[in-house]
Amino acid sequence: MNYKNIEIIGLRGFADKQTLNIAVPNGQLGSGLSVIVGPNNSGKSTIYEAFRAISQNNPPSITEGRRNKDAGDRIEIKLFTTDETSLELKTVATGGSETVFHENELHRHTVKILTLPSRRTFSPFFNKSSWNREQYINNSTLAVVRGAQLDSFPYRLFEIQQNQNAFNSVLSKVIGTVPSWYIEQADDGNYYLKFNYNGSFHNSDGTGEGLLSVFTIVDTLYDSKEDDVIFIDEPELSLHPSLQRKLLQLILEYSKTRQILISTHSPFFISWDSIFSGGQIARTVKEITGTKIYQLKKNTADKLETLLQNLNNPHILGLDAKEIFFLEDNIILVEGQEDVIFLNKILELRNLSLNGTFYGWGVGGATNTDKIIQMLKDLGFKKIVAILDNNMKHLIIKLQKLFPEYKFVCIPTDDVRTKKETKSKPAIDGLIDNDGKNINSQYIGDIDELYTEVNNYFAYKS
Ligand SMILES: Nc1ncnc2c1ncn2[C@@H]1O[C@H](COP(=O)(O)OP(=O)(O)O)[C@@H](O)[C@H]1O
Ligand SMILES: [Mg+2]
Repeated sequence: MNYKNIEIIGLRGFADKQTLNIAVPNGQLGSGLSVIVGPNNSGKSTIYEAFRAISQNNPPSITEGRRNKDAGDRIEIKLFTTDETSLELKTVATGGSETVFHENELHRHTVKILTLPSRRTFSPFFNKSSWNREQYINNSTLAVVRGAQLDSFPYRLFEIQQNQNAFNSVLSKVIGTVPSWYIEQADDGNYYLKFNYNGSFHNSDGTGEGLLSVFTIVDTLYDSKEDDVIFIDEPELSLHPSLQRKLLQLILEYSKTRQILISTHSPFFISWDSIFSGGQIARTVKEITGTKIYQLKKNTADKLETLLQNLNNPHILGLDAKEIFFLEDNIILVEGQEDVIFLNKILELRNLSLNGTFYGWGVGGATNTDKIIQMLKDLGFKKIVAILDNNMKHLIIKLQKLFPEYKFVCIPTDDVRTKKETKSKPAIDGLIDNDGKNINSQYIGDIDELYTEVNNYFAYKS
């Protein structure tokens, strides 16, 4: 059984009904991975809370502060399977914090989603109790306040220790060499996690937060089974980029057959392989009318996949481009890296600035513009400007028709940079010389005008 989507109304910023489509694994790497991005305070952790609330055995109380007044102070969370059965969690009709489950052929005891919060520290000293996976899920309730410690995790450690080889072998895929560790009881009766680094011993308090965070994440994976569902809020916390890369690989591997959802601020957790093989990418945005969820459409992903097949342009969807998932609005698309470099040079020389951010190193040729724009549109970007060369005027007319809400302009020359004649190409009179030092004076008026036009578009609230 797989889940198809979750609908959320009334929880925190969710003033009206929003739907998150959940990736369904098909055996391919990353196919079951759903990645949620979006600025701070846009609603990512609220989605995590929705999953946690609906996976409890008993209907949770939903505190006043979590309920959206615009949605009538009421909450509805509805989880659908791919078979169209569903489980709904609603606040009771008479108002207040209490909730009730409605089962439409999906029994609440079968919904077993392991949710891991972003706050993953735990007290270095703990009591003894051993929780299996199911107990861990059932006992993970929606905390009254956020930011509580993950003090139930040590109960998992007692269980993991019985199965340490399996756990360590998964752990080593992220951190390489695993330090030897075991649970120790201090003379006062308290238990603690003891690490042995080549004969130097210390407890979890003396261990980096990154390692402990990886412990809690690996724990969600190592004893999981096919079709299990796991939600990890911000897996990247405290992790060095190289470990983030390895952790993503591990998550991609597991998501061949499991539904894994993560929210993230890290471009290292964006995988095109995943997106192209059926993985989902969603972006939450806090708008005037509340939190919205935007999602990349399958059709758009298919078109983007053709871009990656161009071996000469690996950077179009590279790490710089992935930054796009983490930018606020006001995006500037240009044809290639020269445009990014030289348009910025011109800004510098004219002592001007553009109130937007360049997309990566350009879109890799004007004819890719529509594909990149469609991706940004799917993800809910409201303000996009494409600046193309003068010889692309015909394309601009087409693009403007396709995307009337965005702005398309062209520079007054056929290339940003002046180029000498070569055997294959005629000379080009550009906006700026090869060294990026002198602007072609005849175009200064046009350039200033173009930059003003772009900034006016960005400033105008539609
Ligand atoms: N009761 C509420 N009514 C309306 N908005 C709320 C309520 N509680 C929280 N919010 C809003 O929800 C957002 C918090 O979302 P959160 O899921 O924590 O974001 P993220 O994880 O993306 O940083 C904030 O913008 C906050 O203003
Ligand atoms: Mg959050």
